Amino acid sequence: MPLRVAILASGSGSNAQRLFDLSRAGTLAIDPVLLICNRPGAHALERAKQAGVPCLMLDHAKEANRERYDCSLVAILKEAKAELIVMAGYMRLVTPFFLHSFPGRVLNIHPALLPAFPGMRGAADALEYGVRLAGCTVHFVDETMDHGQIIIQAAVPVTPDEGLEALQTRIHALEHRIYPQAVQWLAEKRVQVEGRRVRILPAATARRAVTPDGTWIAWPPLEEPF
Ligand code: GRF
Repeated sequence: MPLRVAILASGSGSNAQRLFDLSRAGTLAIDPVLLICNRPGAHALERAKQAGVPCLMLDHAKEANRERYDCSLVAILKEAKAELIVMAGYMRLVTPFFLHSFPGRVLNIHPALLPAFPGMRGAADALEYGVRLAGCTVHFVDETMDHGQIIIQAAVPVTPDEGLEALQTRIHALEHRIYPQAVQWLAEKRVQVEGRRVRILPAATARRAVTPDGTWIAWPPLEEPF
């Protein structure tokens, strides 16, 4: 049975799009059962509609507070029988109630190599700091922002004089590879959490690792076809 995945988004939704495309292609063993967006007009909603994925606009501005909003969110996600919650550009902190409702089942992607540069401006902060390697991180969500256990990270070298837009584009392209990979590992029940550490269990049938080409590296290694 494919894993029932719900996606939370606030913006463009390119990571959500990637999950839709790969599940439709049969590459991901998931069923994207629902996309919920908290911002009216976000392109993520349009993407879900185009992909035929049920979607819902739940405007956070219309709820009295964060707790009330997350109560509604949890009720809808439970109703949809979501087994994994994937935050894809979801620009809101979730409440402890939300996390307790889906223990160990909430993922996020962040455009920096955590624990460096958490927060809203991950890639920009890294660039301004002058890092030589930037990147992205897929992690479990806990009660602290951008803090849960790390599943996979990918790094790109920062080239001299590179602008933020160019760097963000390269990071985004890697996000589109490591996020589906992490979701697939979860769908295959190969993710084992040991305290802060995450172990990816070997597949029942061997998978070929993708060889980085010098412009990026991911760890653990990406597996074909990611
Ligand atoms: C990504 O850069 C992700 O790392 C961050 O928000 C952005 C979402 O992009 N959390 P998209 O909406 O999936 O295109």
